[in-house]
Amino acid sequence: MQPYVLAISLALIALVAASFLLVVRTSGHIPGDHGARADIEKIRRGSFWILVALGIVVTFVSLRPYPHSTAAQVGDTVLNVTGSMWSWDIDKKVVLAGTPVVFRVTSSDVNHGFAIANAEGTILFQTQGMPGYINQVHYTFSKPGSYQVLCLEYCGLAHHTMQDEIKVVAE
Ligand code: CUA
Repeated sequence: MQPYVLAISLALIALVAASFLLVVRTSGHIPGDHGARADIEKIRRGSFWILVALGIVVTFVSLRPYPHSTAAQVGDTVLNVTGSMWSWDIDKKVVLAGTPVVFRVTSSDVNHGFAIANAEGTILFQTQGMPGYINQVHYTFSKPGSYQVLCLEYCGLAHHTMQDEIKVVAE
């Protein structure tokens, strides 16, 4: 299945690129119409580069704080999580505050949305629980307390009951 999806995507990308090239080639100067047109061109070119610069800055600033997966380090606490209709199977439910935790999340049936929320109900992070895959999230709890485990992906009739709890204790 994946190779077909890739081939179709590449074909569509090539089509879009070809249309862009066609537009670039056929758009030229309209004779006897400088002045206002040149001004507009200047503004367009300027705003294009401002947007590019803004995009680069926003990308770098926003990428860093997210709990993207990296290799687990020695000393990290590893939690294995399996979602099934309609409960979470978590092999460890008490972790230390201030210690990096690696959540290894999968599913035994359909896709589930593994999420951790604090006592105020603010979601701290989430990842997909997918059959046949293990998604890793690294997170360090800063405060001790009870944290809610939720499912954020509709997975059937009792989806809303797919809740659990993780306790974070002081070091
Ligand atoms: Cu599992 Cu919704």
